Amino acid sequence: MRIFSGIRASGDKTLGNYSGGFRQYATTQEQGEAFFCIVDLHSITTTHEPEALRESTLSLAAMLFATNLDPERSTVFAQSHVRAHAEAAWLLGSVTSFGELRRMTHFKDRSEQQEFVSAGLFAYPVLMAGDILLYGTDIVPVGDDQRQHVELTRDIAERFNSRYGETFVVPRGVYPEEGARIKNLQEPERLMSTSAGNPQGVVRMIDEPDVIRKKFKTAVTDSGREVRHDPEPKPGISNLLEIMSVASGKSVPVLEARYDGAGYGEFKTDVGEAVIELFAPIQERYRELRADEGELRRLLGLGAEKARQASAPTLTAMYDRMGFVR
Ligand code: TYM
Repeated sequence: MRIFSGIRASGDKTLGNYSGGFRQYATTQEQGEAFFCIVDLHSITTTHEPEALRESTLSLAAMLFATNLDPERSTVFAQSHVRAHAEAAWLLGSVTSFGELRRMTHFKDRSEQQEFVSAGLFAYPVLMAGDILLYGTDIVPVGDDQRQHVELTRDIAERFNSRYGETFVVPRGVYPEEGARIKNLQEPERLMSTSAGNPQGVVRMIDEPDVIRKKFKTAVTDSGREVRHDPEPKPGISNLLEIMSVASGKSVPVLEARYDGAGYGEFKTDVGEAVIELFAPIQERYRELRADEGELRRLLGLGAEKARQASAPTLTAMYDRMGFVR
C-alpha cells in the first residue's frame, strides 16, 4: 500500500498538526510504503520571507523525524527537490475547473485574510492533487480540514483517467477518529491554526511546559459543570476531551467516566499536563535533530532521490497519455 501526506513549511506546528498530521504519519508508515512531503512550494502561496522558509523547512524536517518517522522506512522529502510536483500541477490544471477551485473553503478563508491574493493560492489544490497522484497513493492521512482537497483530488484523478486512460490510483483520505479537528482553546468554534485566531488558544509543539500549562488553564469552557462530549452546546469541553484522548491514548467515553463529577478546573489542569508529557520527549529529540543541519540536509537528499524515482514513471505516463512528443 502506498501512503502519502504533505505538510506546509510555514509557521510553528501546532497540537492540531500533531493530531491530524504527525501522529497519523508515524502510525501509517507501518502499513506500507510511505511518503511524507514538506510542501515548501505550497508555502509561497501566501506572503513569505525567504529566510523564514529555509528555517521552517529544516525545522519541519527535524520535527518529522522527532515524531518518529523513520528515514530508513519512510521517504521524507522537500517538494521543491522533486521537479515532478511543479510539472504535474501544470498538467493537472487542465483537468481542474475554475468552478471547483472557487468552491474550496480553504481558498475562501485564506483569501479573506490576505491583502494580496496570489494565483498560487487559488491553484493550490491542483498542486496538492499532483503531490498525491504522482505516487500511486492509496491512502492520504490528514486532518478533517483537508477533506475537501482530498475529494477534489479524487475527482481530478477520475477525470484524467476517463479522458486519457487509466493513469492514476484514486486515493482515499484517512482521518483520525478523535482529534481530526482540534479547535482553538480560546475560540472553540475555530480550527486551531497559527494563521488565524487568538494565539493564546494555539498550542505549539515547541511551546515550553509553562506556556502550555497556562494555555490550558485559561482555555474557555462553558456554563455547565459536566465533562461531557457534546460539541453543539459544549464546544470547549468537547475539544478538551478530544485533546485529552489524543494525548493520553484513552477513548472519550473512558475519559468522560474518569472525570464524572470532577470540576472543569481539575480536568483542564490534567489535559495540560498530559500534553506537556506528550510533547516532552518530542521536543528533546527535535532540539537534537535541529542542531545537526548537515544531517537533516543529508536525510532530505536521500528522501528526494527516492521520491524522484517513485514519481518519475507517473509523470512520464501523464505526458505520454496527454499526447506530448517525448
Ligand atoms: P497543513 O500544513 O495545514 O497541515 C498539516 C496537517 O495537519 C492537519 N491539521 C489539523 N488536524 C487536526 N486539527 C487541526 N486543527 C489541524 N490543523 C492542521 C492537516 O489536516 C494536515 O493533515 N494542504 C495541506 C498540505 C498538503 C498535503 C498534500 C496534504 C499539500 N499537499 C498532499 C496531504 C497530501 C496543508 O496545508 O496542510
